[in-house]
Amino acid sequence: MMNKISVLILDDERQFTEELEEFFRNRGFDPSIANSGEEGLALLKQKKVDLLILDVRLPGISGLDVLKEVKLRYPSMEVIVVSAHGDMDTVISAMRLGALDYLRKPFRQLDIRIAIERTRKFIHLQQRLKQIEEKSSLITKALEERIERNLIGVSEEIRKVLGMAMTAAKFPDTHVLITGESGTGKENIARIIHFASDRKDNLLYAVNSSSVPESLIESEFFGHKKGSFTGAASDKKGFFEICDHGTLFFDEIADMPMNMQSKVLRAIEEKQITRVGDTEPVRTDFRIISATNHDLDQMVTEKKFRLDLFHRLNTLHIYIPPLRERPDDIAPLLHHFASEFSKKINRPAPAIEKGVVPLLMQYDFPGNIRELKNLVERAVILSFGGTLCVSDFPLKPKRERPKGAALPKQTLIDAEIDMIKSALHELGFNQKVTAAQLGISRDALIRKMKKFGITIIRTDQTD
Ligand SMILES: Nc1ncnc2c1ncn2[C@@H]1O[C@H](COP(=O)(O)OP(=O)(O)OP(=O)(O)O)[C@@H](O)[C@H]1O
Ligand SMILES: [Mg+2]
Repeated sequence: MMNKISVLILDDERQFTEELEEFFRNRGFDPSIANSGEEGLALLKQKKVDLLILDVRLPGISGLDVLKEVKLRYPSMEVIVVSAHGDMDTVISAMRLGALDYLRKPFRQLDIRIAIERTRKFIHLQQRLKQIEEKSSLITKALEERIERNLIGVSEEIRKVLGMAMTAAKFPDTHVLITGESGTGKENIARIIHFASDRKDNLLYAVNSSSVPESLIESEFFGHKKGSFTGAASDKKGFFEICDHGTLFFDEIADMPMNMQSKVLRAIEEKQITRVGDTEPVRTDFRIISATNHDLDQMVTEKKFRLDLFHRLNTLHIYIPPLRERPDDIAPLLHHFASEFSKKINRPAPAIEKGVVPLLMQYDFPGNIRELKNLVERAVILSFGGTLCVSDFPLKPKRERPKGAALPKQTLIDAEIDMIKSALHELGFNQKVTAAQLGISRDALIRKMKKFGITIIRTDQTD
């Protein structure tokens, strides 16, 4: 609902002002009247007026001076000047000073109706625009606040990640690759980069190519022309065009099919795309942030990912270390999630038993922050608003990793290889069971085996 438009009719002819007042009232405006420049300016100090109907021939302060004053003090107020016949010079001056329109006296009802309708539309548009601007600046503000609240962590590692993200934000045309295990916060960082960059007022669009059906993938990415295939009922923009001046977030980039990889590479290099079924290319200005928890280097070696695309996407690389390598972040994250969830279900933030943080710091969090978040949510629900206890956190059993033990005599990678080898051996080389035992997915196990060159040698195959 728009507010009633308020109008001030400023003319020294009383009869004229009264007639106009009635005219405006009948049309749903909120009119008031003044019969001199002084009176009008005084009234404007007390009342917000959207539209001023101003006679340019006034005794005392002249109409043009009133107009100047109004434009200076109330720049958003619209003014229609009223002039006598043969006073074109004054009208021209008034228009130059910013009047929206003019009416000539004596005027016909029809003229004024048309002028008022036009003005009404104009003012409504202005009001609407203002509402939208206010709303969008509120949204931006809310988002910025959310971002601040959403990156929790005190460790050296997470600070480095944030520092890199801020650098990425300063270079809005540089493509960024974010890597890290599942649940480490890759999408979170992508959002932070977008909303801290010059592209923040345009779209951040997340695309996971494995969730787009193969048959639609090209048209989803590049758009299509009406009739270019069955089902293409109208012209459609693809992701690259939707994200013009914004950010395209390619989640799990490793899943992108090979044929799309070459098309995406071309789009990046040419900064333009051609819709399916079209011949004319369209320019589009996007930044790509991609994320993966796969080892893209390895995939390139295995020819599952294009080297040239990898180089393009990887201009800036941000690696987010797993949570177990930055245990200092566990306590702040725990407190943050505990208070967030409690708030959500209208409970006061719970107290946290002393043993909880040490317990979590011992744990290796294969699911990283997402796992911690889920654990805390569950504990908050179970605690019924009381205290979060050690027993509210049923952690998966994990390998011993004693704190303060003697310095390791082998590297982490060696230890990992040993652990994988011995687990495989112990469990009869059953990959599924071994993966479960090691607390990783079967895919991750296979990847690691490939990476470390661990081959399965069954006794029946040797010698
Ligand atoms: N530093 C952080 N502070 C607060 N919340 C975080 C932080 N990092 C991640 N989260 C939260 O953890 C959850 C997982 O993060 P996100 O989805 O960004 O991980 P991801 O790396 O993209 O995971 P996946 O590889 O599974 O897609 C989200 O709910 C996110 O808001
Ligand atoms: Mg993700």
